Amino acid sequence: MMYNEEKLKVKDPAIPDARGRLITFEGIDGTGKSTQIVRLTEKLREMGKTVQVLREPGGTAIGESVREILLDRRHTNMCEETELLLFAAARAQLVREIILPALETGSWVICDRFYDSTVAYQGYGRGLDLNVIGALNQLAIGTCRPDITILLDLPVELAVKRLTGRKEKADRLDNESLAFMQQIRDGYRNLALAEPDRLILMDAAQPETVLAADIYRVIREGFGI
Ligand code: TYD
Repeated sequence: MMYNEEKLKVKDPAIPDARGRLITFEGIDGTGKSTQIVRLTEKLREMGKTVQVLREPGGTAIGESVREILLDRRHTNMCEETELLLFAAARAQLVREIILPALETGSWVICDRFYDSTVAYQGYGRGLDLNVIGALNQLAIGTCRPDITILLDLPVELAVKRLTGRKEKADRLDNESLAFMQQIRDGYRNLALAEPDRLILMDAAQPETVLAADIYRVIREGFGI
């Protein structure tokens, strides 16, 4: 357990209970986000919550088309600025077409990656200007901020071990170096230090079921449910 329970006060009395909650999952590739999202979704549905699960980039027809462009192995010449803008474009659409309307109807939304991914990958990883990324993220998300973000943290070597052999063919974004992944992990950890109330750093090296129970507890305590 790596989060600070003292600081965990996500439940904001200003947010009406009729509104849904936005939970995002972050972490370098290979940390087990997808598995944990499935587990948390099951738990929340058992509690009677309506839960919508989304992934970034994607989640809308436009977003899925953008995703194909981003992951296409033929696009070896994609420049970093193009990549940044495409992620932001997919996100802007997802927020307005799906996330905000879902939250308004009381649905809970779990998103596999959100704007922290852009800060970590394009900012800390690629080295693009963090201020520019911040402004672009702001434009893409508007008022839509996650209520809580689960950051799955894992040493890069372990993440790579888990990834090896998982996919038959690596996509464009999988062909990245260990050093790049290390910068992203460090970036995420910086983000968690800067915003400890929202970004909850969790040890993804724990056994899957232990981690799932931990995440569920963080969510219950955070939202007072
Ligand atoms: P995906 O196959 O969804 O990876 P994973 O299942 O591990 O999340 O591919 C998404 C890739 O895109 C992943 O390597 C992270 C990267 N990414 C960015 O670089 N910036 C972003 O803003 C987002 C959302 C993802």
